[in-house]
Amino acid sequence: MSTSGTSLLKGKRVLLGVTGGIAAYKVAHLARLMVAAGADVRVVMTDAATRFVGPDTFAALTGNPVHTTVWDEPGTVLHVRLAHEVDLAVVAPATANVLSKLAQGIADDLLTSTLLESRCPVVVAPAMHTGMWDHPATCASVEALEARGVTIVGPVAGPLAAGDEGMGRMSEPEEILAAVEAVAARSTELAGRRIVVTAGPTHEPLDPVRFIGNRSSGRMGVAVAAEAHARGADVTLVLGPGAVTPPAGLHVMRVETAEQMRDAVVSAAKDADAVVMAAAVADFRPERVAEGKLKKEAGPPEVRLVPTPDILKELGESKGDRVLVGFAAETSELEASGRRKLLAKNLDLVVVNEVGREGTGFGFETNDAMILTRDGDDEPLRTWAKRELAAAICDRLAKRFG
Ligand code: CTP
Repeated sequence: MSTSGTSLLKGKRVLLGVTGGIAAYKVAHLARLMVAAGADVRVVMTDAATRFVGPDTFAALTGNPVHTTVWDEPGTVLHVRLAHEVDLAVVAPATANVLSKLAQGIADDLLTSTLLESRCPVVVAPAMHTGMWDHPATCASVEALEARGVTIVGPVAGPLAAGDEGMGRMSEPEEILAAVEAVAARSTELAGRRIVVTAGPTHEPLDPVRFIGNRSSGRMGVAVAAEAHARGADVTLVLGPGAVTPPAGLHVMRVETAEQMRDAVVSAAKDADAVVMAAAVADFRPERVAEGKLKKEAGPPEVRLVPTPDILKELGESKGDRVLVGFAAETSELEASGRRKLLAKNLDLVVVNEVGREGTGFGFETNDAMILTRDGDDEPLRTWAKRELAAAICDRLAKRFG
């Protein structure tokens, strides 16, 4: 944590959303810490929050007017103005209600409307009773927010409202400040960098209605794209068919086949600093695509397969300064195969995925993977949340550019 003039928050415009929990009184101290760290803090309170702490307390601490409703500034669209002028948002304390609304995209007050309009990084510090925190509805909201790149700080175990004890107490203001500073540092780590990411499968047509495909959901590549974007990169996402919906703010190029993916990647990669090939590109395609639907009466078709362009190999052959990241799906000899691919395709980093076992890899939330690099910044095989693996890849990209 740093509260000196060299803080990462110096000059940053921070939206502080205060919702209705008793921990709101501690958030006055958080506001004070952020101001001391050089941030320009704009507070938005929900109605319920104003029952715990008066808006004037926050106005005095921040030197800025405190807003409580979308109608506070006749003549301006307040939630849009606020959304566009802040660099970062913190919600503390975050009630179960606001977590759920943020996860669902509900915008029924100034805070939730502002956060729905904004694309800035968001940190939330939940505070609630244990039953509410443990409830599957809250768990699902937290999971959805995390998948979208929201940073969740706490809660911790300790004394709760009404004399109870347990998990659900808001993290201390110093800890929330440290998380906010870490997010502020991360949010510009890849600023000015152009990164191309591919995600999802390719579909190689057999006839107008059939194709050869694979089980890739696109989650891994979309997680990398979202993480790079959250760190300030200009991200182009080349997305295969049927992949998960990407978050807003990326340049998305949709493709179907390996050939189309190759053309999109090669054109996007021209002025890119890095290319991350997370797509499960088909290695082969049917040589010929039947003009009409193949008919059963004609008997089983003879399908001759021919290789598709190896996009990554092509990029590796004219690599220049571009950082190249590949994925390798392996069922055995993970490290040896991964190292072979690192060299054969002239890559800087390869993520070796263990596939073929139930519960990991294609279509699942987690990946069993190892990271192999040219400079020894490796990670041994373990189970990763895809978001966490995406962060590890972006850490290494940032190091390379740093
Ligand atoms: N890739 C590519 N173009 C292809 C096929 C794959 O760019 N036509 C990329 C993938 O996006 C991935 C990496 O290359 O980053 C995977 O390499 P590949 O040799 O296809 O790996 P496997 O499919 O695991 O191949 P192998 O059969 O050699 O194990």
